[in-house]
This record gives sequence, structure tokens and C-alpha cells, in this order.
Amino acid sequence: MSRSASVLLERLGARRPRIALVLGSGLGAMVETVEDPLRLPYAEIPGFPVSAVSGHAGEIVAGRLAGIDVLILSGRIHYYESGDASAMRPALEALKAVGIETLVLTNAAGSVNAAIAPGEVMLIDDHINFSGRNPLISEPSDARFTGMTTAYDAALRETMVASAAEIGEVLHRGVYMWFSGPSFETPAEIRMARVLGADAVGMSTVPETILARFLGLRVVAASVVTNYGAGMTGDELSHAETKDVAPRGGAKLARILAAALPEFA
Ligand code: HPA
Repeated sequence: MSRSASVLLERLGARRPRIALVLGSGLGAMVETVEDPLRLPYAEIPGFPVSAVSGHAGEIVAGRLAGIDVLILSGRIHYYESGDASAMRPALEALKAVGIETLVLTNAAGSVNAAIAPGEVMLIDDHINFSGRNPLISEPSDARFTGMTTAYDAALRETMVASAAEIGEVLHRGVYMWFSGPSFETPAEIRMARVLGADAVGMSTVPETILARFLGLRVVAASVVTNYGAGMTGDELSHAETKDVAPRGGAKLARILAAALPEFA
């Protein structure tokens, strides 16, 4: 077992969560609703990548959400911080080693679909890796040829859809396209993304999904839309806007997850 996994296991004590959540930009508020929280700053766990992006706390919070034992990664490191698409690998390997089976990924994203408005939530049905990067490059084993046909777990997606309907929250569905960032897209790139079949664009999640599937974790992911893509309105895009709008959609996503989590097991 890696040093990160053994430290994490020791700190978890008797807790044995099987579901982990990664919270994206501006979505950290969900940790406030965790019951019986145990907070572990990434800096205290060897191998956990510390992100310096404002709006990303960088800590693990273990506890219960809607009565379910969970492990929350509040904040993630992005490809654009280091140029390393596999930066989250040690953290995800540690989650796997301590018994996590299901990974819930969340992010803030731009909408390229006029029907999906800022403040709304989109379930990720599939993705397009537009970055050209892959976190499994230089992985020597044959497991690197990871199948991505069912990257986003069909049963978990149906649970999300049913749970959202049950509590009366709108949950869009669509394709997420990964751009490396950190600059935002141009209007031409947003038009291209739409033509190529994307509904949302963002700078995260795809590498974690690839790594999680490589490790054999089930994945479900959702985007909180913080803005329309570049050129769809007259406005310039900004990280401040992402951080401002994300909590609004984040509260919706938190309600959907609270309804869905008990049905995940
Ligand atoms: N583009 C890329 N990433 C984003 C956006 C966007 O418009 N909004 C939030 N994250």
C-alpha cells in the first residue's frame, strides 16, 4: 500500500466510505452539510496534490451525506497548474486502496448549449477529450488501454436522473468537452465545440474519469454551469464569475446528490 493510502487509512479510523466526491470550483459549500466531519488537509497526506487555484480548498472531508459514508475531496489539481494530466493519480489510487468503489466528479463549466443556462446543472453522459492529453501516457501496463465506452456509469446516471425528478430539480444531460485551460475558449472554439457535439466545456474531470476507469472505479459526474461559452453573450468570461455563480448551481447539485447517494449502493 502506498504511503498516501496508509496515512489516509490510519486517519480514517473506523470509517469505511465506499463513495468519494470531488468538488469543483465554487462547489466547496457541500462540505458544510457533512455530518460528523473529519477534515484532513491534502498537505497532511503524502502524494496528495495541493492546488493553489482560488476557490479550491484542498482538503479531504470524511463524514456522512444524507446518511451515507462519504469521502469528499474538496478541491482538485488541474492539468493547467502543472502540465501533468496524471496529477490526480496518487490521490485516486489512495482512494481505491482505502476501499472507494464509486467516484462522483463535479465541476464548474461553460455551456455551449443555449438550452442549458448558467446556474443549472448538467449530468455528464459522455465526454470529448479535446486536450490531446491523457493521464495514462507513460503507464507501462496493458491496463493503459482502458475502455471508455461506458466511462460514465449508466446505472448511476439513471439514479441521478430519477432522484432529480423526484425532488423536482432540473437536471440536464450532455457531453462535456475538456479544454486544457487556463485561458478560456475563443468564440470560434465554442462554435467548434457545439458542432463537434459538446454541451459544456471545462478544464477538469476528464483526466480523473480516465484515471478512475483505469483503476476500476465507477464514475458519475455533473457540471454546474456558471456561464455561457465565449461569444454566446456580449460578456467577457472570468474566474470571478465562475466562483460567484457556482454556489447557486452547486446548491441544486447538492440537493440532487443528497437524494441520489442513498440509491447508489
Ligand atoms: N470554459 C472553460 N471552463 C469553464 C468555463 C468556460 O466557459 N466556465 C467555468 N469553467
